[in-house]
Amino acid sequence: MNTKKGFLKAFLQNLLSKKTPDEILETTKNSKLKKTLNAFDLIMLGIGAVIGTGIFTIIGIAMVGEQNAPGAGPAVVISMIIAMFACLFSALCYAEFASMIPAAGSAYTYTYVTMGEFMAWIIGWILMLEYAISNITVACSWTGYFMELLKGFSHILPAWLCNPPVWLINDYRTAVSVYQNMGLDPAVEIPKLFNVIPICINVPAILLVLIITLLLIQGIKESTKAATMLVFVKMFVIFLFIFAGAFYVAPENWTPFAPNGLTGILSGAFLIFFAYVGVDAVSSAAEETKDPQKNLPIGLIGTLIVCTICYVGTALVLSGMVPVDKINVLAPITAAMNSVGLNKIGGLIAVGAIAGLTSVLLVYQLGTTRILYAMARDNFFPNSFKKIHKKHGTPHVVTWAAGAIVIIGALFMDLNISAELCNFGTFTNFMIICIAVLILRKTDPKRKRPFKVPFVPLFPILGILLCGGIMIHGFLTLGISAVLFPVWILLGVGIYFAYGYKRHREVEKQQ
Ligand code: ALA
Repeated sequence: MNTKKGFLKAFLQNLLSKKTPDEILETTKNSKLKKTLNAFDLIMLGIGAVIGTGIFTIIGIAMVGEQNAPGAGPAVVISMIIAMFACLFSALCYAEFASMIPAAGSAYTYTYVTMGEFMAWIIGWILMLEYAISNITVACSWTGYFMELLKGFSHILPAWLCNPPVWLINDYRTAVSVYQNMGLDPAVEIPKLFNVIPICINVPAILLVLIITLLLIQGIKESTKAATMLVFVKMFVIFLFIFAGAFYVAPENWTPFAPNGLTGILSGAFLIFFAYVGVDAVSSAAEETKDPQKNLPIGLIGTLIVCTICYVGTALVLSGMVPVDKINVLAPITAAMNSVGLNKIGGLIAVGAIAGLTSVLLVYQLGTTRILYAMARDNFFPNSFKKIHKKHGTPHVVTWAAGAIVIIGALFMDLNISAELCNFGTFTNFMIICIAVLILRKTDPKRKRPFKVPFVPLFPILGILLCGGIMIHGFLTLGISAVLFPVWILLGVGIYFAYGYKRHREVEKQQ
């Protein structure tokens, strides 16, 4: 009986075993990172990571709605502001941790310090949703804009390239709905392997992920200059859309403003939250930030304000230009321009969107490898995950693993499901980081915090309530993703107990 009790106690202690911030700081002691980033650089970094599919594609879905999620209509602007506040409080909590423990691993590391090993593993596992699974959405949206762009050159390009079969540029669920909308029978149109398994492969998305994986293995160094240039391209096309489109706004399209009332607005807030995913990237640059106490909050709040202005402007113009039921949900911005005869501007926007989406994809694939690498360093994954490429000096095994997650996911999931799944994961992470701030303020109140969340405990609590509230609304209304999210967590728990828990201890014993 006593041995059983002793075993249980040791087991629980293991699950709750923490690293101290000092232990983590010790591992980063030799960091040669220079403190060079100012508030402007941080805002650029934030916009680079944040503006992408959310505004170029999801906005259409949030307005029109989808199965189980009624559209917000023009009231998507209110959804955006709600989503922004959900991010704001959590992003401030991220900043407190990042300035206090400037080490790789982001939320995974912060959870290790406050809640112990088991929760850290779960957060690492969920972070995979935020980075890798979100990239399924980004890659699918990229295909949408890429095909719109090719169509613009249909007079010089071969027809097979501009108008390939639907099943070669979409996942299964999307292909079925596209065929149905065309009045065709998907069962007839989609070829089948062995007469049983339907073949639908988003070839452009998969090729893009392969290219990005190869680039990352080569050790592509995103120079600040290139990243800043892409940010300007993105901003340019968004402002171009807002200013050119404003002339075609017909105010009657704004009525009814909220066709599905509060439910539509909350569903819209859940979906459009995707547009803010990645804002935590700003805090991950804390170690390289000059005067973090001042610059981090400006960088974070600045990013959120700039993005919200772009998003609200785009939403007002888009909903004013096109009646909600006529919005194209794959490439709404380009399609809106084309619908008023501004095809050249539409083409330009498609190019900008492609550039912007490619940069988001690159940054998030890099993010996935960092999380996998941080978890492998703690011996939760096989040793091969720690391998560094001899010639290029990059973690090539985890880079391939990150690429494989997106490619395999893109075969089974559509854009909506992957975005919803990513949102469930990000809401959970954001809430846990808010809780973690409250815990560490109690357990280690004296630690030096170069940036402190103001109005604690109010701000973290507001973050928890807002993220939790929108997430619960998602659980109550959505279908497949609301089931897949708990399945993903259970899978993570299963892998931890079947593999990670044991391996971590075995390796520690050997050391
Ligand atoms: N916020 C990122 C995007 O909208 C994930 O693409």
